[in-house]
Amino acid sequence: MRILVTGGLGFIGSNFIRYVLARNEEIQVINIDSMSYGANPSNLVDLESFKRYRFVKGDAADRGTLEPFFNDLDAVVNFAAETHVDRSIVVPSPFLYSNVYGTFALLEMARKHDIRGFVQVSTDEVYGAANDASYTEEDRLNPSNPYAASKAAADMFVLSYWKTYGLRSIISRSTNNFGPYQFPEKLIPKVIIRAIRNLPVPLYGTGKNIRDWLYVIDHCEALDLILNKGREGEIYNVSAGNEFSNLEVASSILAFIGKSPKLIALVQDRPGHDFRYSLNSSKIRREMGWSPRHAFDQALAKTVEWYLKNESWWSPLATDDVLDPTPWTKTFN
Ligand SMILES: NC(=O)c1ccc[n+]([C@@H]2O[C@H](COP(=O)([O-])OP(=O)(O)OC[C@H]3O[C@@H](n4cnc5c(N)ncnc54)[C@H](O)[C@@H]3O)[C@@H](O)[C@H]2O)c1
Repeated sequence: MRILVTGGLGFIGSNFIRYVLARNEEIQVINIDSMSYGANPSNLVDLESFKRYRFVKGDAADRGTLEPFFNDLDAVVNFAAETHVDRSIVVPSPFLYSNVYGTFALLEMARKHDIRGFVQVSTDEVYGAANDASYTEEDRLNPSNPYAASKAAADMFVLSYWKTYGLRSIISRSTNNFGPYQFPEKLIPKVIIRAIRNLPVPLYGTGKNIRDWLYVIDHCEALDLILNKGREGEIYNVSAGNEFSNLEVASSILAFIGKSPKLIALVQDRPGHDFRYSLNSSKIRREMGWSPRHAFDQALAKTVEWYLKNESWWSPLATDDVLDPTPWTKTFN
């Protein structure tokens, strides 16, 4: 099986490539990544001379770049995206470009070449805030920020290509991921790195916003199942049921590192900040027998350990700008 992975130098994409190559000796991966600021070639440095892996620096929104790789291709797994909500509040246009136009370009190429499978890696953010409920795949989309809106728009294009052209596509929507190789601007690595540096650990608003955390390897396993066993035209929510407030997550990290909870500093909330995300993932569990293999506390401890051991990976990335306590307050230039 030959698959095209886009955005494979990012956090989840790089974990996914390593996961599928190790699990399936028949699989070949072409990774197209534009190497935007969140990409990191060192994420897959161990695969550079691996026969079943090929990296191509290129823009997934550019059909000319994509064309040569669509011959003899079995499937596309589309991770390529701008992914930081705070940045989408300051400058939304790259989100429209990579997340919507990029998905459109890939769909067009998949349609032209009659590709057998197309997995769109989407997010719980498309449903918007969950008050008391846990959203199912049938619930309406109600995005609250430009990142979420761009992902929702991409999902709509994917569904339309299934309905209009019969393109064999599947959408996965997962909750917040954590684990090794996550860029330091995201909550968990930012808390770990600022704590290691004895810097205040900023939490937005009251710190009580709730996210449902999914260990990245559990997500990779779900995506691999979706790619191989998912039903065309379907959406699958992926969640582990680890709902914790940001305050709880930051406190656990500080305890693992042996730092005082007094490092936590509440800062001004960002606009459009959804209070809680929550997904009902009974469909993937029922249809594919998926369930998360990693307990939250152990996976979080493993993640903290990984950052403690891999300072050389994150240190060049963890600039003052990237660790900014309130990046969404930056002005548009
Ligand atoms: N991180 C999460 O918690 C989470 C949760 C649910 C869904 N997702 C989705 O999973 C996917 C991957 O997320 P991530 O956290 O690994 O993000 P990331 O920011 O770490 O990686 C994204 C990668 O996409 C690449 N990219 C961006 N625009 C591109 C373009 N036009 N052409 C080619 N490559 C491009 C970047 O260079 C980067 O390597 C995204 O689609 C995201 O919406 C993420």
